[in-house]
Amino acid sequence: MQQLSSQDIDLWHVDLADADWDGLANVLDPDEAGRANSQQVLFGSQDFGRSRIALRCVLASYGDAAPAQLTFRRNAFGKPALVGQGPFFSLARSRRFALLAVASTPLGLDLEWVNEWVEEVHLMADLLLHTSERVALDMRAPNLRRQVDQAWVGKEAYLKWLGTGSRRPLWSFRITSAASGNLLTIEDSAYTDLPATYVYPVAVPEGFLSFLCSTIAEPRMRAYHALPGSCLAPDGRIAPGSIRPFAVSVSPSERPGIERAAAGPGDPGSSPCRLGCAE
Ligand SMILES: CC(C)(COP(=O)(O)OP(=O)(O)OC[C@H]1O[C@@H](n2cnc3c(N)ncnc32)[C@H](O)[C@@H]1OP(=O)(O)O)[C@@H](O)C(=O)NCCC(=O)NCCS
Repeated sequence: MQQLSSQDIDLWHVDLADADWDGLANVLDPDEAGRANSQQVLFGSQDFGRSRIALRCVLASYGDAAPAQLTFRRNAFGKPALVGQGPFFSLARSRRFALLAVASTPLGLDLEWVNEWVEEVHLMADLLLHTSERVALDMRAPNLRRQVDQAWVGKEAYLKWLGTGSRRPLWSFRITSAASGNLLTIEDSAYTDLPATYVYPVAVPEGFLSFLCSTIAEPRMRAYHALPGSCLAPDGRIAPGSIRPFAVSVSPSERPGIERAAAGPGDPGSSPCRLGCAE
């Protein structure tokens, strides 16, 4: 069984192009199966169904229940959580890739494909950045697009942590360096009584960008591939040995921020991913 300490954040990579997930479709509940079927019929996409199958298999690996036995509830804005005991999680999909974060405290994870040419980067900055962030930004900086993308994905991660989703405009709050100078925090005047929340980059394949938001200031991140093959034992539970950690690192340059991102000791971009966890 997967164990989580209070500092651990597990990141699960899921290849949604892997058709072997479909063989485990009987773990889905009727609502999920209906949505998976609609997505398949309307858009020819299996991504929803496969990511939900993977979500169930991964979450079941942290407890005694079989994937099919897990039940979920949602808040008024759609944020899902496990009913009963179990870890917190956040799921994001982009293209044929899904990423799932699991921890013992609430999380928000966003993942975006950012490899396309965007001409309207100034318009993006207007939509995504707080006034003070725009003022601090050098609009002619060669990495302007990168900075805007990082603010975008970091803020979406925060909104997913908060649970409101994207109903809040992203320009209405800001990402800023924490007092220690080593982490990024959210400053959101609409929620002054929240605990401190931190935003950090997640290592993902080239072309994608991902950020995670949680209250854990110094997380220990572990990365895994969720693989459908031999995932379930005959009794419907997660098969021993089906969990495969792999090594991962994050470049310090992935750190978000508006020209504030000086890397340093304990920088979230360079240290929290636990290297050496490969098989
Ligand atoms: C949450 C939201 C930001 C997701 O953004 P996205 O880029 O389209 O999708 P992602 O791949 O990043 O994430 C999808 C997952 O986020 C999670 N999610 C959904 N709503 C969420 C919320 N309010 N907060 C946090 N996570 C949420 C779910 O796990 C979802 O997976 P699912 O489709 O299998 O259920 C966006 O859907 C949103 O703003 N939703 C709110 C809409 C709303 O207010 N609905 C109210 C009526 S339910």
